[in-house]
Amino acid sequence: MSSYDVIIIGSGPGGYVCAIRCAQLGLKVACVEGRETLGGTCLNVGCIPSKALLHASHMLHEAEHNFATMGLKGKSPSVDWKQMLTYKESTIEQNTKGIEFLFKKNKIDWLKGWGSIQEPGKVKVGDDVHETKNIIIASGSEPASLPGVEVDEKVVVTSTGALELGKVPKKLVVIGAGVIGLELGSVYARLGSEVTVVEFLDVVTPGMDGEIQKTFQRTLKKQGLTFIMGAAVQKTEATKTKAKVHYKLRKDDSEHVLEADAVLVATGRKPFTEGLGLNALGVKMTDRGQIAVNEKWETSVPGILAIGDVIEGPMLAHKAEDEGMAAAEQVAGRHGHVNYGVIPGVIYTHPEVANVGATEESLKAEGRAYKVGKFSFMGNGRAKANFAGDGFVKIIADKDTDRILGAHILGPAAGDLIHEICVAMEFGASAEDLAMTCHAHPTYSEAVREAALACGDGPIHM
Ligand code: FAD
Ligand code: NAI
Repeated sequence: MSSYDVIIIGSGPGGYVCAIRCAQLGLKVACVEGRETLGGTCLNVGCIPSKALLHASHMLHEAEHNFATMGLKGKSPSVDWKQMLTYKESTIEQNTKGIEFLFKKNKIDWLKGWGSIQEPGKVKVGDDVHETKNIIIASGSEPASLPGVEVDEKVVVTSTGALELGKVPKKLVVIGAGVIGLELGSVYARLGSEVTVVEFLDVVTPGMDGEIQKTFQRTLKKQGLTFIMGAAVQKTEATKTKAKVHYKLRKDDSEHVLEADAVLVATGRKPFTEGLGLNALGVKMTDRGQIAVNEKWETSVPGILAIGDVIEGPMLAHKAEDEGMAAAEQVAGRHGHVNYGVIPGVIYTHPEVANVGATEESLKAEGRAYKVGKFSFMGNGRAKANFAGDGFVKIIADKDTDRILGAHILGPAAGDLIHEICVAMEFGASAEDLAMTCHAHPTYSEAVREAALACGDGPIHM
């Protein structure tokens, strides 16, 4: 039996970052992980593999659509799906091995196997019981199931199966126009699949700025994705190679069927707490199955904390990482802090979508006075040169104080540009502060400055 200051259960972005920070703060740390590799959902079957496929398929799109215009002639590449999956796997391996290296460097013990909490201060892994002063649960999430839809991970798949289909399907039906559905739907559309997205609501990516939602959906339609909106999926029927998706249109209750070679079920994720023994310990849960925590990430049982997808808040890797660092500070006797008002969200399609802070819709609901500065990438020289003029930057600022309240970007490198606004918001900057900051030319970031100018006297290039 070994003894630790902290045992973390789960090695996803929440768990592994927490482990490294704990070690940096001088604590004796172990991290329990049941998978064969470290890195959790994000590195193994989430962020990293999906971005590898998004990158490869975007390269194909560029070769097919824009190379000739730039004077790059020759046979356009064809898809070797097996090789693309090998590239994806090697990207995963480099990242998961990287975490293994960081664990060794920071002297963090990897306890291999599935962990359960016997009592506060005792974690069982296999036949061994390890003692610890603190336990941090970072057990993540798993795909939510849909009544009437049986996942076989071959024909009817979650995101995990969609990252390793046997072949590129001729027809793919995606259930859910959320982040996973649109990212992976884009991948297959670029690789030649006929992609139909069936969405329960009347808008894509619920919760996002309304103007972005509409423009984003239009952009994806232009890229060949078909949308069936306001449709409730009733059930799927699958054979070994094909599937049928039955859905009902909400507006008139009419029933329809789609045929597909593969169906991606992307209707959300739910916290994963199986086998942890939380019931017996009396750990309080929310009514959505999350572990309930206070502002210090402490659960209702002293000595047990929880972070990441398994608690409430956006299911994002960087949110889990921030909580991991903050919880480490807490158990080390410092004060951990996460500013939940400034957590960016990014969809890695092309163009990308990124957002932070308030939407017009949320401010209207609050009755708060605001102003909007917008700038189209059509007015940005770099974007035009790079065939990336679709989209815009929208900054929302307080009507009286000019303080930035939120930003929404659809366009090239949106996922990087948004951080300029995150930093500005962390410092309580006004739109004018951003507008007065010199931005290098020619860069996409000039569009951010122009949107900030648009909150005041107006942009220059529009
Ligand atoms: P996880 O990453 O889920 O890790 C939890 C780990 O705990 C798992 O490895 C699990 O095996 C282990 N575990 C659970 N219980 C036990 C136990 N009892 N004993 C031992 N080990 C246990 N987010 C982004 O921010 N950007 C993206 O681009 C992005 N892309 C995504 C793409 C896809 C397809 C998916 C599915 C998700 C994506 N996400 C993305 C979400 C992101 O993956 C999660 O928000 C993030 O992984 C959550 O981190 P976590 O540490 O809370 O949990
Ligand atoms: P999501 O919550 O983003 O979207 C689910 C969609 O399915 C919603 O639009 C919802 O209205 C729809 N839906 C629900 N039930 C339905 C039904 N019966 N029929 C039709 N549509 C239905 O969930 P998603 O895409 O599964 O992603 C899960 C989580 O993973 C998200 O919380 C997200 O934050 C995270 N993620 C983040 C990424 C990123 O940051 N780039 C990438 C991929 C995932």
